Amino acid sequence: MSFPDIRPRRLRRTPAIRRLVEETRLAPSELVLPLFLKEGLTEPKPISSLPGVVQHTRESLLKAATEAVSAGVGGLMLFGVPDNANKDATGSAGLDPDGILNVGVRDLRREFGDATVVMSDLCLDEFTSHGHCGVLAADGSVDNDATLKIYAEMAVAQADAGAHMVGPSGMMDGQIGVIRKALDAAGHQDIAILAYSAKYAGAFYGPFREAVESTLQGDRRQYQQDPPNLREALREVDLDVAEGADIVMVKPALPYLDVIAAIRDRVTVPVAAYQVSGEYAMVEAAAANGWIDRERVILESLTSIKRAGAQITLTYWATEVAQMLK
Ligand code: PBG
Repeated sequence: MSFPDIRPRRLRRTPAIRRLVEETRLAPSELVLPLFLKEGLTEPKPISSLPGVVQHTRESLLKAATEAVSAGVGGLMLFGVPDNANKDATGSAGLDPDGILNVGVRDLRREFGDATVVMSDLCLDEFTSHGHCGVLAADGSVDNDATLKIYAEMAVAQADAGAHMVGPSGMMDGQIGVIRKALDAAGHQDIAILAYSAKYAGAFYGPFREAVESTLQGDRRQYQQDPPNLREALREVDLDVAEGADIVMVKPALPYLDVIAAIRDRVTVPVAAYQVSGEYAMVEAAAANGWIDRERVILESLTSIKRAGAQITLTYWATEVAQMLK
């Protein structure tokens, strides 16, 4: 018996054939740009560990957002960085309608209406003096249920400011259910929740901590997930979907492709991934040394995240990549 002459290389022979059989293709609309708005700045301030990313003034925020929207990105995720004087133990500047994050959300909605998707980070770490994602109990641990009460109010404040979607990223138990209930009770039934469902307590967030001037001493291991665990991520996702999450997210992205793939198989809501600051910084640093082809590595990493199953990716390269894809 002779074997047929099967040659997979036939489909790799020319660029046109390869394009025809390409299984994963990036599009601008699935990319979301995270943006940092800093209180009291008079001009944009570079973030040294995130070359090319800045803390924005209200004016420069609108400029960067306009560029992103014109390039076709799918949405904007806003982080607020308050003045140090406005940080306190309970993160009250996060609830203030005139707090920096809510001001920025209002600016973005005023500028873009429904022409893009305005998302706001729903977490306390930028607003607390101690830098934790929640309020502290007497023993110094993060008090889950006391934090939930604040998240509920913060969600309503962000929706009032005009967010289309809130992004709870604090990994408190029960946060999605509490936020959903609070939004509904305030008449915000149409505001969606992008849940950071599987968020790992890894070392990839280093540059972000500079970006938001985090004051955190210690770590977040009592609330974010332990990197070795996959089944625990499925449990978190099941809970978030049951509590009303509209989109679930995995974070970081590239080191957790197996988690993205497993979640994609399990749920019917859209799956997102956050290509975090450390992933960005590694590529930029290697490229600056001439050690890798920057553009190809950026596209390859985003393609891998999509191939694993993420339908939406948050990335600091969103505008640039959207422009490349045009
Ligand atoms: C918490 C939050 C973090 C990031 C997004 N939301 C930081 C953390 O958990 O320490 C990290 C994003 C990045 O590293 O790019 N508000």
